[in-house]
Amino acid sequence: MGVFPQTIHFTGLNTPVRIETSVRNLPVIGAMPPDVSGAFFRAVPDPAHAPMHDDDVVLSGDGMISRFRIRDGHVDYDIRYVETERYKLEREARRALFGRYRNPYTDDPAVAGRDRTVANTTPVWHAGRLFMTKEDGLAYEIDPETLATIGRFDFHGALRSRTFTAHPRVDPATGEMFFFGYEASGLCSRDIAYGIADADGNLVSEHWFEAPYCASVHDFAITGRYAIFPIFPTTADHDRLKAGGAHWAHQQDLESWVGVMPRYGKADAMRWFKGPKGVSAFHIVNAFDDGDTVHLDLCLTDTNAFAFMREAGGIHRQPWEIQGALTRWTFDLAQSADTFEERPIGPPGDLPRLRDADQGRPYRFAFYCSMNPQGGPPLPGGPVGAAFNAILRIEPGNGRVEMMGLPPEMAISEPVHIESAQAGHDGWLLAVVDRRVAEETFESELWVIDAGDIAAGAVARVPMPVRMRPQVHGVWVSDAQLAMRAL
Ligand SMILES: [Fe+2]
Repeated sequence: MGVFPQTIHFTGLNTPVRIETSVRNLPVIGAMPPDVSGAFFRAVPDPAHAPMHDDDVVLSGDGMISRFRIRDGHVDYDIRYVETERYKLEREARRALFGRYRNPYTDDPAVAGRDRTVANTTPVWHAGRLFMTKEDGLAYEIDPETLATIGRFDFHGALRSRTFTAHPRVDPATGEMFFFGYEASGLCSRDIAYGIADADGNLVSEHWFEAPYCASVHDFAITGRYAIFPIFPTTADHDRLKAGGAHWAHQQDLESWVGVMPRYGKADAMRWFKGPKGVSAFHIVNAFDDGDTVHLDLCLTDTNAFAFMREAGGIHRQPWEIQGALTRWTFDLAQSADTFEERPIGPPGDLPRLRDADQGRPYRFAFYCSMNPQGGPPLPGGPVGAAFNAILRIEPGNGRVEMMGLPPEMAISEPVHIESAQAGHDGWLLAVVDRRVAEETFESELWVIDAGDIAAGAVARVPMPVRMRPQVHGVWVSDAQLAMRAL
């Protein structure tokens, strides 16, 4: 077993934990609301082996599926590795066999052609099935009871795309899942596959189109009428990969683009709109349309938020020099111009969460992670190496912003939203909060927050008896959804 590099990707909150465990009957401080009954699944990258190269990153960590199971006020916790093909090969070899982030030319020749994905980004629930996803490969299906890995999922052989996004969108009214895969035909290809699965989980359409260039396409959006594909200038180059270099390099001088097509249409109906140069967004809060007018609300920054993607493009800026805002882009499809309007609608931040019922529709409120001006320097951790320490609640209709800011030495992961059975109540947020209690020593708690009064802080807290590595995304699956599990 090698030694983990002493970089931001393997120290602080990002120190590898690598422990599969289960804990029953965690202590609950405060009152667990009766609405909070179901499972909070979380995707946690945690490298099972020391990497082959010291410049490895959090995003390469083997996916772990973590679950808080909450019922009748009781809280149980489990975490297991996703047994991807890569994980199993490396477990057998007792060492890393796959090389640099998304570069197969740096792998041990013994694993040439094998599935490289680590399925570490988002747990997805659709049509009674649980998946772990990462955008560089297909999803892996997980047993929601045992957390055992069932296997790679290709819609029972129907999906042609080689990749599946970590950000599908489920329409709350129809139950359809809208998704895409980029680099759909292979490494550095411009092909994007746009797919729809019906409420029973069957693939009903898959349309392919070409992006303006091969970009990292992390998220997309749907409205009642449209599917929207933002393309930001973080690009791939096959020759660079063959030379052992970075998959992604951000290009500050290259235009961004937004493709808008009818959501049930064919890709030849795509309209392309030209956006600002050099900007980046990993996550979209929501989108909605009003006839020919389409609004897209996104966590926009003026360059890529990941240092290793900036540096590969020759951009040397410190994290605190990056500018951004929650931003609304508005498209007028009645006009023939390829331009659109832009206005800020909230402070900078990322990891937005929305009520499931508001997906693709006008919405009253949403939540996202941000920095508390009184929170001191960020804790070292998470995919970009600096952890968030505040949750914002934004009401885009009136501009109201509320904050739950954490004191210094604390950090918060992306929350999930849970509906309340009580009419007029805005529901609950669940999120893991970390605290540094000594140098390189951290303690974690699960917090339950009133979504209508986030400034009040936690209404219930669950102290964790185990170290927790930061999650990427999570999903809340209610008891009613769990009961509809596909068998
Ligand atoms: Fe994401």
